[in-house]
Amino acid sequence: MIYLKKLTVSDGEDIYEMMQEIPAEENGFKNPVYGKNYDGYLEWLKKAAEGAERVGIVDGWKVPETLFWLYDGLRPIGFGKIRHLLTDALRAAGGSIGYAIRPSERKKGYGNKIVELLVTEARKMGAEILLTVHNGNEASLKAALNAGGRIAKTESGRYYIEF
Ligand SMILES: CC(C)(COP(=O)(O)OP(=O)(O)OC[C@H]1O[C@@H](n2cnc3c(N)ncnc32)[C@H](O)[C@@H]1OP(=O)(O)O)[C@@H](O)C(=O)NCCC(=O)NCCS
Repeated sequence: MIYLKKLTVSDGEDIYEMMQEIPAEENGFKNPVYGKNYDGYLEWLKKAAEGAERVGIVDGWKVPETLFWLYDGLRPIGFGKIRHLLTDALRAAGGSIGYAIRPSERKKGYGNKIVELLVTEARKMGAEILLTVHNGNEASLKAALNAGGRIAKTESGRYYIEF
């Protein structure tokens, strides 16, 4: 069974191990755990869990956001993030949904699945849904279109995809 699980402060080694496999940054999507030691990961989990409880906008750009792990059975496959709301800066670059699949599990259909599941979650949360995909990131563009997205505009080296 493939499903999303919300980040919690008690997440463990399986997630840590996956996050060391996913690069620190790819196509504008960041993995803040890459290169951290285990204690650093535990500290980060606390901050990330607080991020989901945040209310309103901090410093004009830090918005409430929830992190999800994609699991296939017991194995973590990737992760995604939903911003609960957007600022103009995030509307221009970043969007409300980001995701990555661990490299060893790419090209198996999990990218399609994580976008579909994140869009469903974001709808449940009542969040504005906008994906910004860098030109040339064909896999991400396809996954977004397969999940029902449509290209609203192409600008500043990005596709802006609405749902
Ligand atoms: C984008 C990403 C999540 C896709 O994950 P994935 O598990 O490989 O995706 P899937 O296997 O479900 O493939 C999605 C679609 O893209 C296609 N695809 C996959 N890799 C591709 C590639 N390198 N070039 C072109 N198309 C590709 C697949 O055929 C599929 O389309 P289809 O179902 O219509 O045939 C993954 O490559 C990733 O984590 N990239 C780094 C982070 C990133 O770019 N995040 C997105 C930021 S907007």
